[in-house]
Amino acid sequence: MASIFTSPNFSPTPTTTTSQFKSSNPIRSLFHFKPSIHRQKFASFGAVICSSSSGGRPEYIPSRISDPSYVRIFDTTLRDGEQSPGATMTSKEKLDVARQLAKLRVDIIEAGFPAASKDDLEAVKMIAQEVGNVVDDTGYVPVICGLARCNKNDIDASWEAVKNAKLPRIHTFIATSEIHMKYKLKKTKEEVIETARSMVKYARSLGCNDVEFSPEDAGRSEREFLYQILGEVIKAGATTLNIPDTVGITVPHEFGQLIADIISNTPGIENVIISTHCQNDLGLSTANTLAGACAGARQLEVTVNGIGERAGNASLEEVVMTLKCRGQEVLKGLHTGINIKHIVMASKMVEEYTGLHVQPHKAIVGENAFAHESGIHQDGMLKHKQTYEIISPEDIGLYRSNEFGIVLGKLSGRHALKARLLELGFDIDGKEVDDLFWRFKAVAEKKKSITDDDIIALVSDVVFQPQVVWKLGDVQVTCGTLGLSTATVRLIDADGQEHVECSTGTGPVDSAYRAVNLIVKAPVTLLDYSLNAVTEGIDAIATTRVLIRGENNHTSTNASTGETFHRTFSGTAAGMDIVVASVRAYINALNKMLGFKNQPALKKHAGNSQVSA
Ligand code: KIV
Repeated sequence: MASIFTSPNFSPTPTTTTSQFKSSNPIRSLFHFKPSIHRQKFASFGAVICSSSSGGRPEYIPSRISDPSYVRIFDTTLRDGEQSPGATMTSKEKLDVARQLAKLRVDIIEAGFPAASKDDLEAVKMIAQEVGNVVDDTGYVPVICGLARCNKNDIDASWEAVKNAKLPRIHTFIATSEIHMKYKLKKTKEEVIETARSMVKYARSLGCNDVEFSPEDAGRSEREFLYQILGEVIKAGATTLNIPDTVGITVPHEFGQLIADIISNTPGIENVIISTHCQNDLGLSTANTLAGACAGARQLEVTVNGIGERAGNASLEEVVMTLKCRGQEVLKGLHTGINIKHIVMASKMVEEYTGLHVQPHKAIVGENAFAHESGIHQDGMLKHKQTYEIISPEDIGLYRSNEFGIVLGKLSGRHALKARLLELGFDIDGKEVDDLFWRFKAVAEKKKSITDDDIIALVSDVVFQPQVVWKLGDVQVTCGTLGLSTATVRLIDADGQEHVECSTGTGPVDSAYRAVNLIVKAPVTLLDYSLNAVTEGIDAIATTRVLIRGENNHTSTNASTGETFHRTFSGTAAGMDIVVASVRAYINALNKMLGFKNQPALKKHAGNSQVSA
């Protein structure tokens, strides 16, 4: 990695010293042998490699950080991440994710784009109220941020959504690259500057003292124009300047140089925080983000699992763990306030709620990230864990199979289940553990031993589910070579009323889905259906996933293009009967869709055509 940051043309130290710097699824482990539970220090690489101390979180002041090495983590999973195709989350799911982000102690949660739809506005409002007001015993409370294009409607919606948080922030943006200004905005440079300046001022005038401004497509914007517009928005009251590489085109030394140049040339820059927002189109988002941090950015925008538009964003776990592992030694002592032991749970939750699967070899949170299959590696691991492992999985909330020797079966109690869940990174309590326990018991009656994969599948099935509009009562199918597949389905509605319908179809799942459609009467297109066995053997648990698109205008607005797009909704379920699991996944997707509020957000400035993007 070092070479990435040492291009001959790039000095990571800003040439102008500013006051900012003066003052201031691993879950399925393949590790099937029993390792020692005593962690040893890795002496020659600086104690335990990935446990450098953080030095605490400085008091939150929008435009200043008292500790010059502290880097704010701005999570945009619920905004940039959620707008990826198929990733729609319900308000309850967004609230769960926001709570998990607060457990991680991210500094800023970008909770959504409130002007996109009524659903988005309400979700951000709820997060501001419920997560943005919980101050923990160290004084930590996350900043809650809402995105807005540079127009009054969006800024009003954003302020309306976040204003009840203890630390509210409005993030407004307008494109600054030649190509965006000419073809998308159809505005001159002067018009773009004036829109940005007046809208930052407008956001401040609402009473918001924490305003972030982004020049969209900064990576391709003309430098002098960038310095000019950034200088103007600082004068208008912006407190954070975010520099997006919107199309993910820059390479690390280039992006680092961009940040360094902005710091050197923008008037008033010493009064604000610089931020990075790197898309992953060339697979360089984490490296670019770190190059930006080395050049002086002190806020890094990331998403859990790296989800986001197109190829996604810089991933929270990669950026945070790189700073944790190498910050002291080779990244200028930079550190964050993230509580890394909640990473696994955050990753799993986002994976389940969005339906966007994490690739097995994904750094930090992929299923194989801590798997050691080859004989040489296993031998090395047995002799000394750090021969092949630079991060202790327990540190990010992942315990290896049977680390504590707990084997679950039909005689296991709630306590053992809860202990195993914790080892797997799932910090679940109350009713969810009770519900999970009864599902676990039902499976344990049929299966001799319950593996970690079985438990993880059940967690997805019981815990990570949308609010219930329709619930499956019963399903019965007849299928085979002798006649038409026929299904009878009994569903229960929100008032507890039972509804029964029968249908024929091309197979058992098709006939059952048709029977569900006769009851729910919400026209949808089935975009994708998949079925996977999570364990081996005839008694394997299967997980099913469906992706649907509603025909009745489940629309939202894309923040960047301003275009209306059709939301898609995913549903998952798990169980030993594949038809039942398929029907439950379909009902979960329908529930998600039916819970989505479609109306536009605020329309106070109806005549305002000052839409920037
Ligand atoms: O990629 C981008 O430019 C953005 C901005 C709104 C920050 O998402």
